[in-house]
Amino acid sequence: MAIWVLFHLFLFLVLEPTTANLEGNALFQLRIEVDDPENVLQSWDPTLVDPCTWFHVTCDAQNRVTRLDLGNAKLSGKLVPDLGKLERLQYLELYMNSFVGPIPAELGKLKNLVSLDLYHNNLTGSIPPSLANLSKLRILRLNGNRLTGRIPRELSKLGKLKKLDVSNNDLCGTIPTTGSFSKFTENSFKNNSRLKGPELMGFVRYDVGGCN
Ligand SMILES: *[C@@H]1O[C@H](CO)[C@@H](O)[C@H](O)[C@H]1NC(C)=O
Ligand SMILES: *[C@@H]1O[C@H](CO)[C@@H](O)[C@H](O)[C@H]1NC(C)=O
Ligand SMILES: *[C@@H]1O[C@H](CO)[C@@H](O)[C@H](O)[C@H]1NC(C)=O
Repeated sequence: MAIWVLFHLFLFLVLEPTTANLEGNALFQLRIEVDDPENVLQSWDPTLVDPCTWFHVTCDAQNRVTRLDLGNAKLSGKLVPDLGKLERLQYLELYMNSFVGPIPAELGKLKNLVSLDLYHNNLTGSIPPSLANLSKLRILRLNGNRLTGRIPRELSKLGKLKKLDVSNNDLCGTIPTTGSFSKFTENSFKNNSRLKGPELMGFVRYDVGGCN
């Protein structure tokens, strides 16, 4: 009996560091999911107490992840919903890779996110309306993917948004013009052949046909 208890105590002590490493585990899901021909994720060891010594990961003084810098890293594969668990993340830089599949709606949980750079990948599906929850967001660049569907009207409530680029996709519907969208020019939206012009001010056109 005593040995049985000791054995379980031993298991607890051995496994506890990894179960406590919630943010490391979330990031490790990304490592499992993606193809990494240049081994840029080689230092991502999930048995460490936190991911703060991993390359391309930056933490704050409390060892919580604030930046993920994986631009131009030749990564391919899907983005994982687990990224939404990085509560203190401010910069999610995944531009110029070959990521495929949808933008996880869970990214809308990243309440501290300041910059979301997913440009020049092969992402498909639509822009999740949950991104409108990112109230601190200043930069949103999704250009150069294969995104479809409408630009979520909710994004116009992102009051801090300074830079928006959804050009070079396959978006459709109309361009919102209210809120933060009032300052963006057509450059933010160019080369979306099915995207119709700006909505008329105060006279919203809800077009019903052919947009998905
Ligand atoms: C996207 O996919 C197309 C077709 O599979 C491929 O030719 C292209 O190189 C990919 N682009 C990126 C940035 O991965
Ligand atoms: C986030 O956005 C979604 C979709 O717009 C919404 O349903 C949800 O209530 C929002 N969650 C929070 C916590 O604000
Ligand atoms: C338009 O966007 C698509 C999708 O990203 C891209 O493949 C194409 O090269 C772009 N065309 C121009 C003229 O930029």
